[in-house]
This record gives sequence, C-alpha cells and structure tokens, in this order.
Amino acid sequence: MSSAGVRILLDEPIGTINPNIHGHFIEHLGRCVDEGIWVGPDSAIPNRDGIRSDVAEALGELGLEVLRWPGGCFADQYDWRDGIGPREQRPRRRNIWWGKEEDNAFGTHEFMALCEMVNASAYICGNVGSGTPREMMEWLEYCTYDGDTTLSRLRAENGRPEPFDIAFWGIGNENWGCGGNMSPEQYARLFRLFETYLQPRAEGLQTIACGLDHGWNHRLLDELGCTRRLDLLSIHHYYKAGHSTEFTEQEYYRLMAEALKLEARIIRDTHLIRFFEGDSPGRVGLAIDEWGVWHPDAEQPGLYQRNTLRDALSAAILLDVFNRHADSVQMANIAQTINVLQALIQTDGARMWRTPTYWAYMLHKPHRGRCALRSVLECEQMGPVDGRSLPLVSVSASRRDDGVFLTMTNLHLSEAVEIEVQVVDGRLADAVGDMLTADAANATNDAGESDRVRLAEAYPRAAGGSIVCELPPVSAVAVDARLY
Ligand code: AHR
Repeated sequence: MSSAGVRILLDEPIGTINPNIHGHFIEHLGRCVDEGIWVGPDSAIPNRDGIRSDVAEALGELGLEVLRWPGGCFADQYDWRDGIGPREQRPRRRNIWWGKEEDNAFGTHEFMALCEMVNASAYICGNVGSGTPREMMEWLEYCTYDGDTTLSRLRAENGRPEPFDIAFWGIGNENWGCGGNMSPEQYARLFRLFETYLQPRAEGLQTIACGLDHGWNHRLLDELGCTRRLDLLSIHHYYKAGHSTEFTEQEYYRLMAEALKLEARIIRDTHLIRFFEGDSPGRVGLAIDEWGVWHPDAEQPGLYQRNTLRDALSAAILLDVFNRHADSVQMANIAQTINVLQALIQTDGARMWRTPTYWAYMLHKPHRGRCALRSVLECEQMGPVDGRSLPLVSVSASRRDDGVFLTMTNLHLSEAVEIEVQVVDGRLADAVGDMLTADAANATNDAGESDRVRLAEAYPRAAGGSIVCELPPVSAVAVDARLY
C-alpha cells in the first residue's frame, strides 16, 4: 500500500462551488429525449404527462441543478415554434445531425415540465446557425414575458399563463463547427446582434457565448472588445482512450490523463477572460457545457455506449478540478444525461438503471454550494502517460459549518493508498465516509445487474487531530470530517 497526505488550508477559500457545475445536457439525439425522458402520456411505461416516472425520480434524487436543451448540434437547426401547441398538429422534421425524424412531441412546455419536476434551472441553447435574432427574441418573449402580448397569450392558450423561469440562454452551439462553421470574428458579430435583442441585463438572464480552444476564445473576446456582453464562455471537452469496456492498463491511465487536460484549458481560458475583463475581474465564468467520455465504440447514430467504473472515476476527478477552480467554473453539463455518451441513466424499454457515473455525482453532491478550500497534496506520480506524469490521487475540499468535506480518487489500478488528511491551523475530530468502487475498472451496471457499481460505506478513522483513510485501488471516496 502506498501513502499520501493532504493538508487543507482553512484560510484559503477558492470560492463558492456553484451547484450548476453538477449540471446536465439533453439533446434530440438517439434515445436521450425519446424513450430516455419522453414516452408520451399514452405509454405503458409509467409516466407523468409523458415524462417517464422512473427517470424523473432518479434525476430528482440526484438533483439536476441546471439542464441544457435542445442541443448540441440540434440547437442550431431547431425551430422553437415546431415544439408548441397541440402535439398532434406539430410538424415532423428531419434531424439533420442525428439520423432521425422529430415529431416535436417534446418541446418547450415539455422541457419546462421536466425542469420543474426535478427542480432544475433551465438552460436553453438558441439557434444562431440557421436561425435569426428575431426568432430567439420571440422564443424568449413567449417563454418569459409577464405582460399581455400575442406571444404571451399564445403561451397561455398552450396551457401556461404564468411565465416560465429560464435563467440561461446560450447563443448558439459549436458555431465553429455544426453551428455554422464560422470564424470567431463572424460569430462575435452575430453574438453581439443576438445579445442586443435578448436584452439579458434588463431581463435578468445570463448569456452563454460559444468558445472553443484558446486561439478561438482569444479572437472572439478580442472582436467583442470586452466581456460585458456575456456571462459565461462555453468550452467543450470530450476525451477517449481505448474501447468502452475492453481497455489495456495503458489506456486506463491514458483516459485519466486525457480527462485532466481540461484543467490546463480552464487555467488558460480563465486568464484570458480576466485579461479582457480589465479593471473589474471575476464576473464572467466558464461553462463546460458539454464534457465527458466519448468512446470510439459509441453506437452510431444514437451514441449509446457502456459506462464503467473507469468512466465514473474520470468524472470524479473532473468534478474535483471544477471545485479547485470554483472561482472560474460556474457551470458544467455532462454529455448526456440519459442513454447518450457518458449517461448517468440508461434505459432499455421499460427498464432503467443508474450508471457508475451517476454514483460519482452522488458522492460529490455535498460539495454543492459550499466554499472550496485550497489543499496541498503529497502523493506519488505515475507514468509517464503520454510523456507526462499522472498524480496517483485526486483531491478537492470544501468547508461546511463545523468541518470539511473531501472527495479523493485513487487512480491506481492495483494498489491501495493510505491517505492522511490534516487541516492547517485546526484539528479534525472524526469523520464518516462513502466509497465508489467495484471488483474491476471495467465493471458496469446494466438491466440485468443494476447494482454492481454503487456507493458503499468507507471507514475513515481519527488519528490525533488528523483523519486517515484507505482508498482501495480504482476508487473514489468522500469524507465528511468534523473539526474540534
Ligand atoms: O453531445 C454530442 C454532440 O457533441 C453535440 O451535439 C455537439 O455539440 C458536440 O459536438
């Protein structure tokens, strides 16, 4: 067994962990919306107004915080008017990106019903690639206007007299690619135009601009000339190494290294935003509004893939990264909530199960809304993996009234780690813990065996003012420790 140590600096707050870093994303893609969420009111699968009850219950337990919809690439072809009014009259359209046809049964009202059911803030990604500022302006008015206009009356006729609460509006998605193949300068001009007609400051909304890599982001902010027109800059991070369930040792470690590349991007893009913010830094943040493992064997065109303990640990270490950059990362939406890519829930007809990644989120849940604390980690480095070393352990810490909460992941495939947790200028009295692990890194849950990977109790012990905890190989552990 190797040993490691972490010292938590109570006097060094990083910032409040925005609960929206535990956000989600659903798109009209494969079986995410259709079957995963929407089965329709006449389905034999138990549902509430067409939304499946088992999924709503599992999402409610998890707490979705914020939910992004309708895409993804689909957002920049979507016409919001297709998804309102009597369902039997809604048009049927071709989904040009994901090889399917849309009956538009799941539209704005159905999306908002889901958000209200699971208590999530709504994040609508608007159409910039093939849409107009007028269309997005009217969608906003339809959804949120509290007065008496033709559009607000239409919303009432469609069953919703009171306005919807939609906090986040994305101005396009991947407009450097499926959202219109634009240059950053072209997109910046359109962003300015759309933003003008949304009037986000007057409406109390947050706008999200589409980012990419550092070069695009620099040119975008340069062309905008300032950051006052946006609240969040979006970046996406997909990673892979080997097959979803059959991977070599080397591929296991490479996946973790690929995931962690996001940290360097966050640091660079945060510096960039702060530079453009000038004299009043700190308002604009990053939204990692699509991220996760995208395995090469994800089924085409529905992007369904198996989800293993390895995937869950890669999510756990990125949730640690978001906590460690709580002063910058204000939102993160894993792709995608149900049945697509790194799903938290999977279904097969009437059957539903929670994936290992679901449990990584549950493990991290107590961090939400707490103040992230800086910590100093001493542990072995593994590797090199692709020329760089990989820390054996990942850690993040947050403060609660009378103690600290920590999440820690042991990335080693075969060796346990004993870690000593100390607080600087304080003493820890006792602790309780939870653990996510299984008998193999490629362990997965499915319809037949839905509980192979799930949370179990961990047993941290007090040791003279510090806490000692064993992290089994391939495990993530959460420790809730009380201060004297
Ligand atoms: O999540 C799947 C796709 O990945 C999204 O539609 C797109 O934004 C990204 O390229």
